[in-house]
Amino acid sequence: MTAYQIGGGRRLEGAVPVSGAKNAALPVIVASALAAEGESVIENVPLHTDARDLVTILKALGAQAEFSGKVLRVRAERLGAHVAPYAAAARLRASTYITGLLLARVGQAEVALPGGDAIGARPVDFHLRGLAALGAHVTVARGAILAKTQGLRGARFFVDRQSVGTTCNMMIAASLAEGVTVLENPAQEPEVIDLATFLTAMGGRVHGAGTNLIRIEGVSRLHGARHELIPDRIEAGTFLLAAAATQGVVTVHAVIPEHLRPLTAKLALAGARIRTTADSVTIEAPRRLSPIEARTEPYPGFPTDLQPLLVAALSRADGVSVVEETVFENRFGYTNELVRLGALLRIVGQDTAVVTGVDRLSGAPVTAADIRAGAALVVAGLMAEGTTHVLDVQHIARGYEQFEDKLRHLGAEIRLVRDDRT
Ligand code: UD1
Repeated sequence: MTAYQIGGGRRLEGAVPVSGAKNAALPVIVASALAAEGESVIENVPLHTDARDLVTILKALGAQAEFSGKVLRVRAERLGAHVAPYAAAARLRASTYITGLLLARVGQAEVALPGGDAIGARPVDFHLRGLAALGAHVTVARGAILAKTQGLRGARFFVDRQSVGTTCNMMIAASLAEGVTVLENPAQEPEVIDLATFLTAMGGRVHGAGTNLIRIEGVSRLHGARHELIPDRIEAGTFLLAAAATQGVVTVHAVIPEHLRPLTAKLALAGARIRTTADSVTIEAPRRLSPIEARTEPYPGFPTDLQPLLVAALSRADGVSVVEETVFENRFGYTNELVRLGALLRIVGQDTAVVTGVDRLSGAPVTAADIRAGAALVVAGLMAEGTTHVLDVQHIARGYEQFEDKLRHLGAEIRLVRDDRT
C-alpha cells in the first residue's frame, strides 16, 4: 500500500502536458475489438490502471493488444470467448462496454457488474434496457450481466437521462447491428464524439454525436483504424484547479480549450485570469478565490468529475460558495476528509455543499475513496500548512498517469511513501 506525502503551502508554477482522455480511451479501446480484420493503432493512451485492466480483459477474450509507450495496437480477428475475467471487470465502470462489444462480435456475453468509483448507486439499468432494445436477451445473475442474441437489430431508444456509458455502449453494439439505431437524449460529451470519430474511421456510420440525437447505421464488418485520443479535460481541469487553490500560475498544454470552458468560465468568476491559445490554457490565480456558485450537469455544464476538486479549491475562498451536484446522488463522501484538514462545509439536502472559505487548512492523514475525491484531497494537501498524507492512492492511479511527477514538476512537494498506518 502506498500513500502520498505532501508538504503544503507551495504555489504551483510552470507548464504541464495533458494526457489522452481516460473516458475516451476506455470506449475506444473496447471499440477497437469490433474489427474483424486489420490492426487498430490508438495513440495518446493514458497509462493508468483502468486502461491496463481493460486491455487485460480484451486479451483474455482472444484479442491481441500491445502497448508501446502511449501507443496501443489491437488486433481482434480471433476474439471468441464470451466470459470476461471477473475481477478485472468488477474493478472497472467501463467494463459494461465489453457487453456491447461481445454481443456484437460473439453473440453472447458474461461480464461482472461494474465497479469504479463509490459515488452513488451507479445502476446499469439503461445499459440493460438499451441492449435489450437491440434484440439481446439480458439478465443479471452470479454478480454478472448475462446477455445473448441471435443477431442485434437497430432500434429507436430514448435514454432516460443523459448517460455517457449508455451512449458509448449503444454506439459500440449498434455499429454492427442490422439496420438503423436512433439514440434519443444521448450524452453529448466530447468523449462520445471521439468514439464516433474512431468508429467512423473503422468503417462505421455514426451521425450526430455531440447533439441530442445520434443515428447509427449498422454495417456488417468493421476494420482496424488509426486514432489519436483527445486530451483529458478532467486531468487538465485538475491542474488548473490545483493552481487556483495555491495562488499559482500554470499552463496546461496539448488541450482543447473549448472543452475546458465550463471550468474556465467559473474560474474567471472566482477572480482568476485565464489566457488561451489554440492548444493551451494558462491560469493566474488571485491571492484568494472569490466565492462562487456552481452546479454539475452533463456537458457542456460543469463536469461532475471536477466537483470535488472545485470544492477543495473553494475551501479557502474569501466567502461562502455553494456547489450543487445533480449527476450522482452520493458524491460528497470525500467532504468528511476535507473537514479533517480544517475545511468548513455543510451538506444541505444531500446534493448541495455550502463551503465557507477558511484562512488556513492544516495537514492531516486523509483517505482517498475514489479517483477524483483522491485528487481533491491532494489539492487540499497542497494548500494545507504542514504535512498531509493521502492514503489509498491506488484509486488516483486508476485515472491519472504520473500524477505526482507532474505536480512535482509544477513545484509541489509530493512523494509516494509506504502506507504504515496502524
Ligand atoms: C461516465 C464517466 C465518469 C463521469 C460520468 C458523468 C467513464 C468511464 N466514466 O460515467 O467519469 O463522472 O460519466 O459525466 O466514462 N445512470 C443510471 N442507469 C444507468 C446508467 C447511468 O441511472 O444504467 C445514471 C447514473 O447513476 C448517473 C447518471 O445516469 O446518475 C449519469 O451517469 P453516466 O453518464 O452513465 O456515468 P458513467 O458512464 O458511469
